[in-house]
Amino acid sequence: MSELHPIGLTEEFRSKLEAVDSRFVKEGLLFARERTWQVYDQICGSLCEGMNEVEARELAKKIFAEHGVKKHWHQPVIRFARGTTLTFHQALCGDVFLKKGDPVFMDLGPVWLHPVTDMEYEGDVGDSFVFGRAVSATEDEAKRCAETVKILFLEGKAKWLKEQCSGKVLYEFLEKRTNDLGYRLVKDVDGHRVSEFPHQKHTKVALPTVEFYPTAYLWILELQIVHPTLPIGAFYEDLMF
Ligand SMILES: [Fe+2]
Repeated sequence: MSELHPIGLTEEFRSKLEAVDSRFVKEGLLFARERTWQVYDQICGSLCEGMNEVEARELAKKIFAEHGVKKHWHQPVIRFARGTTLTFHQALCGDVFLKKGDPVFMDLGPVWLHPVTDMEYEGDVGDSFVFGRAVSATEDEAKRCAETVKILFLEGKAKWLKEQCSGKVLYEFLEKRTNDLGYRLVKDVDGHRVSEFPHQKHTKVALPTVEFYPTAYLWILELQIVHPTLPIGAFYEDLMF
């Protein structure tokens, strides 16, 4: 297969990047998505002033466990304040304590057992918000950043659906739009496959390198942006369909 690189040159290679188990059904992923968004809201309502990012992860895992989640394809990531400028790949901050008016983002990746097919499916959702109400110098900027990343996600999804563009073209567009809106796109945070658990057995390819039109129900569109000068970032991700 090596002579077929770069990816996307052939339908054969494309099918490998979009492989699923023979028993896969998209309803399994939709079930995992829906359940994860429900728990996202519960975790949002359970965050407490004064907790750090490590404690927030433990809280999220405890809440997921109460819903029957036994494993996570990636650990819950909940970032506060200046932690929102750091990525999924960087260590959580034990020395950042949540206070009112702080930017927060959550990136959740639980594995759910789909009761109809008795197969495990991957949830992967994330969003950003401002914690509590406060009068602070950065609160309005944090709110604008959280709103902007959602706008960018929706613009990207609309372009993908309307123009049937590749993952590569989609992320080039999103980088430009992020700059237009006064933020910077974090380059090492990008979209990827999801499927029955684990998608990594099929591929670990990054969506911005995909040179074909990604098929619905198989990919996560994922974005992190940061403010050009303030220690504020925001994140959003969801299933593409
Ligand atoms: Fe995620």
